[in-house]
Amino acid sequence: MCGIVGYIGEKNSIPILIEGLKRLEYRGYDSAGIGIISNDKKETRVIKSLGKVSKLEEKVEHLVIDNSSIGIAHTRWATHGEPSEANAHPHFNKDESLYLVHNGIIENYTEIKAKLTKDGFEFVSQTDTEVLVHLIDSFLAKGSSLLKSVQLALSEVRGTYGLCAISKTEPDKIIVARKGSPLVVGIGDGEHFVASDVNALIGHTSRCVYIEDGEIVEVTKDKFTVSSIDNEEILKEVHEISVELDEISKGDYPHYMLKEIYEQVNSVHDSFRGRILMDEGTAKLDGIDRIAERIANSKRLVLSACGTSWHAGLVAEYMLEQFTGIPVEVDYASEFRYRNPIVTKEDSMFFISQSGETADTLAAMKEAKRRDALMLGICNVVGSSIARESEAGVYVHAGPEIGVASTKAFTSQLVVFALISVLIGRKRHLSLIDGQEILRELESLPKKIEQILKLNNQIEAIAEKFVNAKNFLYLGRGYNFPVALEGALKMKEISYIHAEGYPAAEMKHGPIALIDENMPVIVIAPKDSVYEKVITNIEEVKARKGVIIAIASENDNEIDNLVDYSIKIPDTIRMLMPILTVIPLQLLAYHVAVKKGLNVDQPRNLAKSVTVE
Ligand code: F6R
Repeated sequence: MCGIVGYIGEKNSIPILIEGLKRLEYRGYDSAGIGIISNDKKETRVIKSLGKVSKLEEKVEHLVIDNSSIGIAHTRWATHGEPSEANAHPHFNKDESLYLVHNGIIENYTEIKAKLTKDGFEFVSQTDTEVLVHLIDSFLAKGSSLLKSVQLALSEVRGTYGLCAISKTEPDKIIVARKGSPLVVGIGDGEHFVASDVNALIGHTSRCVYIEDGEIVEVTKDKFTVSSIDNEEILKEVHEISVELDEISKGDYPHYMLKEIYEQVNSVHDSFRGRILMDEGTAKLDGIDRIAERIANSKRLVLSACGTSWHAGLVAEYMLEQFTGIPVEVDYASEFRYRNPIVTKEDSMFFISQSGETADTLAAMKEAKRRDALMLGICNVVGSSIARESEAGVYVHAGPEIGVASTKAFTSQLVVFALISVLIGRKRHLSLIDGQEILRELESLPKKIEQILKLNNQIEAIAEKFVNAKNFLYLGRGYNFPVALEGALKMKEISYIHAEGYPAAEMKHGPIALIDENMPVIVIAPKDSVYEKVITNIEEVKARKGVIIAIASENDNEIDNLVDYSIKIPDTIRMLMPILTVIPLQLLAYHVAVKKGLNVDQPRNLAKSVTVE
């Protein structure tokens, strides 16, 4: 969603800000803008553009201004007010001496706007953010410093924010504040950076501090001071950023999504590397080892997440129930707090999130916290809000995921849940032999993924046949039912073709009415304990002339007599099969979208990290 970048130092801020915005493009946005103060402190400039950052860059090239070494920039994903230049950030006061960029939502903006309008402030946008600028300006006009004015303004607003403000009246600082929307300060030598995502800092610095809710930071080129909203100074821990520049570049791939699908050979390996204790048939997960006993004694395990991470939670439900014997419940994070969830201190809650910033998942966490459950984070992004809010957790180690459609994070989340199932299972009833079998199968996955990726050309040829399809139905049973949901989600989000995932047996209770010769049906049918039943479902589709694409086991020759297309993949044990069966579905969605000429990495209306509820 919206992205923020800020720079203060001695270099020209403009290319740094534009480069930073480009690094945040993957988050999804509809407009972009930049606000700077000239080095002679006489001029301020704001430039905005609808559409891509490259358009903003073109406009900025024509900018006539003495060098600027302080500036803030933003990519906007519209919430209040349509995508337009007027609504894009930075927003500014009447004489353009104050600039502000803001992520989040100001909930009481209508009442503040009414009051400010009465006091003579004029509004030029339809955004909630603009009230913040005028509110800060009203305190500046009364003689408060920029820091104090931001503090006073924030004490009047309800809602969420990650914001940066600069002013010509104090041109040597950026004021930064956070509540509910991530921000990080990058520490350089005689320079500082601000960003809503560490990706914007990579290559500039490897040292950063994560800003927490309720903190305000005064950033100058030489130092930064963090204080609470009540002006108490706060000492911060400096973190190392371990991500390298090449990890966030596309390399030779045409799209990030394809790169990330191919990276699964390594990312799956990275997720279990150093975490297997083969002799003991168990896993070693530093983040939860000290509380593993408590998890094993939980009355219930509750998993909460959104989107693809929720699908990972559904697969994890099968794994955890099978191998730990503890009842498991999986909840949409976005629904969790709108019920009265029965969660107690005897439960362990897992919050699953690639980005670690999803607002709905964070909100579910806050609700669970009130109920004293053990809070565990399963995140990909190191240092993210969910990771920091958790009492303990496991990083999935998939590496940076830039493509909006989640791929490698999903398979890594499943690897981590397989390891958790073994770790907790071994503390309960799982035998040494069974634990070792799971771990050996885990170790064999990277080679099998490599084998599946060799089917890319075959899958591309199948995709060609379905570019004009209007609907897709995905069917799977048991462990592969959540994979059907995930395959359908991938197809919907990047190809804009309507797709639905169903448990295969549920088809006859309704969706079967949709089947005719124009309905492609993808059936996940590896040779496992539910194979015979899935074959019956295939027959039912066939009898109604549906076109069937099967994801089948490599040694299954009979299935070719029943289906129109078969994609043959290697086998593994049932619990790990989703890590393999999902890969052809990722590739299928990818190729259909590319053949339709769509923007695979930044599909319309979507954001990589959904930071509003
Ligand atoms: C789908 C997708 C989204 C995310 C969802 C949760 O490809 O990317 O459905 O899975 O927004 O995001 P995280 O995992 O970052 O909490």
